[in-house]
Amino acid sequence: MLTVIAATQNKHKLTELRSIMEKFGMEVISQAEAGLGDIDVVEDGDTFEANSFKKANEIMKLSGKIAVADDSGLAVDYLGGAPGVYSARYAGEHKSDLDNNNKLLAELDGIENRRASFVSVVTMVYPDGKVLAARGECPGKIIHAPRGDGGFGYDPLFVPDGFEKTFAEITAEEKNTVSHRAKALEKLEEMLNK
Ligand code: IMP
Repeated sequence: MLTVIAATQNKHKLTELRSIMEKFGMEVISQAEAGLGDIDVVEDGDTFEANSFKKANEIMKLSGKIAVADDSGLAVDYLGGAPGVYSARYAGEHKSDLDNNNKLLAELDGIENRRASFVSVVTMVYPDGKVLAARGECPGKIIHAPRGDGGFGYDPLFVPDGFEKTFAEITAEEKNTVSHRAKALEKLEEMLNK
């Protein structure tokens, strides 16, 4: 079984990466389990691709093992793709998911076009320098008030196409079949099997 280190400090992302990659026969271990403690790679790139590669590459270099990273965010049509790579700190540094959600609702107040997509770029970096990267997108819409208490981030505000419920109202299993992260990882898996 292929064992990879997840280059993230986000417990929700770790759980999702784990359950999706498990289905593909891969074992995901956390930075802590790999003995790396709480290293937080600075995300200073302006694309998902750049940040995703940076996180995986740094963790691979520090551990000498295969690392996988997800860089993701919400791209809102009316906001020209914002918050995008800045999704985690949309309301400012050290603000909460709730602050970010409230800012998004304020920006879309009175706006009819609520189309948005979640985007994830997953990158796997090997100690020999091999790099695999894949992008997944999940289209949907932003509702007017949060619903549900599962998931994380913008999940309570996002209804994926084909669903009536938000990402925070569906089960983790359902989210892991349609999410941006699942789609990116499915593509990555195809690359691994080529
Ligand atoms: P980063 O990849 O560490 O830059 O953070 C991505 C940010 O995008 C998260 O902190 C969330 O705010 C948002 N995000 C990414 N994926 C999801 C998701 O599956 N659900 C809800 N929010 C997400």
